[in-house]
Amino acid sequence: MRSAKDFFRPLAMGAPAPLREIPVRPSRVIHFFDPSNAKMAAKVPDLVGTVDILLGNLEDGVKAENKIAAREGLLGIGRAVDFGSFTQFWTRLNALDSPWFLDDVTALIPAIGDKLDVVMIPKVEGAEDIHYVDRLLAQLEAKAGLTRPVMVHAILETARGMANVEEICAASPRMQGLSLGPADLAASRRMKTTRVGGGHPGYLVRQDPDPADPAGIDGQRATYQQDLWHYTIARMVDACAMNGILPFYGPFGDIKDVVACEDQFRNAYLLGCVGAWSLHPAQITVAKKVFSPDPADVVHARRVVEAMGDGTGAVMLGGKMEDDASLKQCQVLLALADQLAALDPALAAAYADTAAG
Ligand code: GLV
Ligand code: MG
Repeated sequence: MRSAKDFFRPLAMGAPAPLREIPVRPSRVIHFFDPSNAKMAAKVPDLVGTVDILLGNLEDGVKAENKIAAREGLLGIGRAVDFGSFTQFWTRLNALDSPWFLDDVTALIPAIGDKLDVVMIPKVEGAEDIHYVDRLLAQLEAKAGLTRPVMVHAILETARGMANVEEICAASPRMQGLSLGPADLAASRRMKTTRVGGGHPGYLVRQDPDPADPAGIDGQRATYQQDLWHYTIARMVDACAMNGILPFYGPFGDIKDVVACEDQFRNAYLLGCVGAWSLHPAQITVAKKVFSPDPADVVHARRVVEAMGDGTGAVMLGGKMEDDASLKQCQVLLALADQLAALDPALAAAYADTAAG
């Protein structure tokens, strides 16, 4: 463990100073594209300004024979595209134990490290993985003369990573956030979901039998599907919050079921996540909707702030008690609404209307 005094010292001579805060940028959606797919790559410039985060994926989902083409494609995009001030440019590197990670990072950082905001590291198991990436990035940044550190985002997708989630979040000032990787995590835990994220109809609770029903246990009994990811997301949110970094829900594999996708994203939003992955343009719309505060909630939050005056004590609003603690929740929501409105004109208009009305 480094001493507190050393924590913000660059890990290589000439590397940029580590960041003390994660820069505030819209982070509602991380849209994945495969840079080895020419059709997808060609669409990237058109998505700039419309998507919070564009991520060139080099890891799972890219066939082994396309790994080099994906890296080359990403280099081309990084050199050619101006991402502006709204859209962040990320990549998901191959796993640390794969034959591609070292070449990925040594090719990308010198060439387009000034463009890359964040590198996502899959299958992180413990702080030691982050320490390795941290030092390597510092050396490459120093060599390339970069003036801004590249941040690191870890995917929470192994049982050991889950057990070590707090130390992973605290491992480096480079840590920007975590994403839940439900597909790999399910495999690592021996869960039997056989799908990418979302719920499962078999994971449920059942109403007690009606004593008056002669059919007994075979009678009509309501069942309620439960959220397989509740514990994991809640623990991830705590680990991120205590370390000042950002939690995200990961992939939702059933692309056509935008309704269940919205539910899963909203559970994550309500539990404290700032965004989710999108694997298809339809999911961009869902994520932007869910992770932007609802204008009706903004109206309510403004009312609470106004009614609470100096912020102490309690008031009754619409028959409900509001106090210092619910005021703080409202302030979190309004701060997010203000941040998004400052960068997204459509939201600025939606929230301005609520101020007027
Ligand atoms: C994402 O990478 C996952 O495994 O769910
Ligand atoms: Mg995975």
